[in-house]
Amino acid sequence: METKALNLSHLGEIEALVRIAFAKHIGIPDPSSFESGASFASRFEVAADGAFGTFIDDKLVAAIFCTGWGSFGFFGPLVVLPEYWGSGLAQTLIQKADQFFEEKQVELAGLYTFSNSPKHLALYQKFGYWPKQLTALMSAVVSTQDATAERQSTRFSLLDTEAQSSYLAAAKQLCNGIYKGLDLSSEIKALATCKIGDTIFIEKDGGTVGFAVCHYGHGSEATSNNCYLKFAAACDQEQFSRLLTECLKLSSEVGTTHMFAGVNTARHEAYKTMLGSGFKMQAIGVAMLRAQHDGFNRPGVFVIDDWR
Ligand SMILES: CC(C)(COP(=O)(O)OP(=O)(O)OC[C@H]1O[C@@H](n2cnc3c(N)ncnc32)[C@H](O)[C@@H]1OP(=O)(O)O)[C@@H](O)C(=O)NCCC(=O)NCCS
Repeated sequence: METKALNLSHLGEIEALVRIAFAKHIGIPDPSSFESGASFASRFEVAADGAFGTFIDDKLVAAIFCTGWGSFGFFGPLVVLPEYWGSGLAQTLIQKADQFFEEKQVELAGLYTFSNSPKHLALYQKFGYWPKQLTALMSAVVSTQDATAERQSTRFSLLDTEAQSSYLAAAKQLCNGIYKGLDLSSEIKALATCKIGDTIFIEKDGGTVGFAVCHYGHGSEATSNNCYLKFAAACDQEQFSRLLTECLKLSSEVGTTHMFAGVNTARHEAYKTMLGSGFKMQAIGVAMLRAQHDGFNRPGVFVIDDWR
């Protein structure tokens, strides 16, 4: 048995393992139908050193992805081939995540998991992660009419290098105001490098007041024909609502049929705004944090993310 860092050459094996493990846990007969079309390729662009796997006889039997967003980090998905469940393989990989967070100087670590699974909660509690608030995984239908409305956002992919740098700095500043040291630069850059979606920015009085990292298309984390909002942040409720509208416009413009986005329900106003904007709940999970505080999972925070 060998546990080591994974790279892009392992992608096929990782994705097959993810589908087999989750299909078994959820009870889906055909693993290939789980999150069909979604890819983890860009995770290697976001954090080239954030994936680890365990091999037995050269076969990948367990894997984990770790992500650092500045001062905040999370791991997931974590998967073990069903015939090895209960053998301690997940715990070896969680220790790898611990090392990753330490190296990246992540001060707040978290994860998303099944809120109704004693096994999952007990496993993560052993490493100091405690169940906090519910995270709602939501989706909205994208109307073709959304594309006809005039776009009031700036697309990162259409900017020159100098302008991209200033928008990256603006996103960093906005996130820093939400949670000190929170930094989504790696996600924004990865999306542009891999060409698997776009990041949009909205402005007010000449300043950036919101941005959204939208995955879509082949090779992205979005399922087939959908747009997946990996992260979005706005300074207040009005701008958050505006940002959602702009995301729907982009989703329609690029031909997707549904938009998926997760939100921590402790971000009460953000959650309510999404419900009011046509989002419906698809699934519920729980955010677990290794901290005595709630990080940026609190009222008054206008952020979308789900840490899967
Ligand atoms: C969740 C998953 C990764 C766990 O992997 P695993 O290799 O079986 O986990 P481990 O054997 O390392 O650890 C499980 C621990 O939880 C404990 N546990 C299991 N059920 C428990 C329960 N009901 N109450 C308390 N502890 C429990 C086990 O006893 C074990 O601890 P121990 O070694 O001290 O006895 C694996 O089941 C999986 O791939 N599931 C499908 C995909 C998934 O759900 N991924 C996680 C998404 S967040």
